[in-house]
Amino acid sequence: MTTATSTRIYNFSAGPATLPEDVIKQAQQDIWDIADSGIGVMEHSHRGKVFDAVMQETIADCRSIGNISDDYEVLFLQGGATLQFAMVPMNYLGQGKTVDMLHTGVWTKKAIGEAKLFGDVHMAFHGTDCKFVHVPADSEVSYSGKATYVHYCSNNTIAGTEYSHVPATDLPLVVDTSSHMFSKPLDISKHAIVFAGAQKNLGPSGCTLVIIRKDFIERANPNMPLMLNYAKQAEKGSMLNTPPTFAIYIMGRVFKWILEMGGLEAMAKHNQAKAKIIYDAIDGIDFYGAVAKLDSRSMMNITFRTPNADLDKKFIAEALDADLSGLKGHRSVGGLRASVYNAFPVEGCKALVEFMKNFAAKNG
Ligand SMILES: Cc1ncc(COP(=O)(O)O)c(C=O)c1O
Repeated sequence: MTTATSTRIYNFSAGPATLPEDVIKQAQQDIWDIADSGIGVMEHSHRGKVFDAVMQETIADCRSIGNISDDYEVLFLQGGATLQFAMVPMNYLGQGKTVDMLHTGVWTKKAIGEAKLFGDVHMAFHGTDCKFVHVPADSEVSYSGKATYVHYCSNNTIAGTEYSHVPATDLPLVVDTSSHMFSKPLDISKHAIVFAGAQKNLGPSGCTLVIIRKDFIERANPNMPLMLNYAKQAEKGSMLNTPPTFAIYIMGRVFKWILEMGGLEAMAKHNQAKAKIIYDAIDGIDFYGAVAKLDSRSMMNITFRTPNADLDKKFIAEALDADLSGLKGHRSVGGLRASVYNAFPVEGCKALVEFMKNFAAKNG
């Protein structure tokens, strides 16, 4: 990060976001010439040997990190996580069919809107009542008793809330893990579909990781257009058309980096330590306030406020002058947000806290 030899600054953006430096450096070489092939990674045919090796290693490393059994397909799809909001109900709802939604913020609102185009939506949890400051305990969820599947978002990027449990249900569980995928262990085996847009913890935008249980694929609507058909995508190894080769390549490098870091247990420890540094400052300096309730605080997206909106604005501007970028809260909620995904360094968290102390002393 900011060193005598680097012009890079601390990037707290919610996504696209900070990637591991080692990955970027390796990519710089591979863009020019990958695996001594004399051709850069972006210029290789997706049907050729070099890219095939990238694809197979990426899938194998993904399986290894997530402890993903052969009961699941690992797919790399396009259209972002947003397309999954539509693709899931398109495949599994229909007239008279219901999804049970755990509504915890902007990203479940979008999923609800798309699901309503294809079937009935039952609000099993309605977070608007609490202004999305916490995710529901199992006791707060009321299932319809007739749903085809349950949808939830395990880390709410905008509200800054995160589940520390998997909702208890026997129904097929669909989860949007976009903003904390592989930041800590996740029990894939409790889910029918796990999906994540890549551009936070996994790589650049343009690719969505979709992990889907094979027996759930069999239950999908077979009359889907090709690109929206999970079975066809699985059959063709996510290559019904030209896949986003560069995004998949970077994901593969990020997976190798996660494995080198010690896997998901190590990732979780590293992320807990980073988040604690910032939450301790928010709680300890009588000037800042956390947005999310204590039991639902996200390790990835830390939402907080100064005493008023004018000071929030000043904070954001002065932080940028101090090489701390991307601290503005989402436009729908305002305030401040520090996104500290896997690749974000601990030094950046400490630099933010120093800045927070000085800012509070000057403006408090
Ligand atoms: C939790 C969550 N779900 C879905 C999305 C939408 O992702 P995409 O832009 O890949 O469609 C985002 C984007 O920020 C997100 O944070």
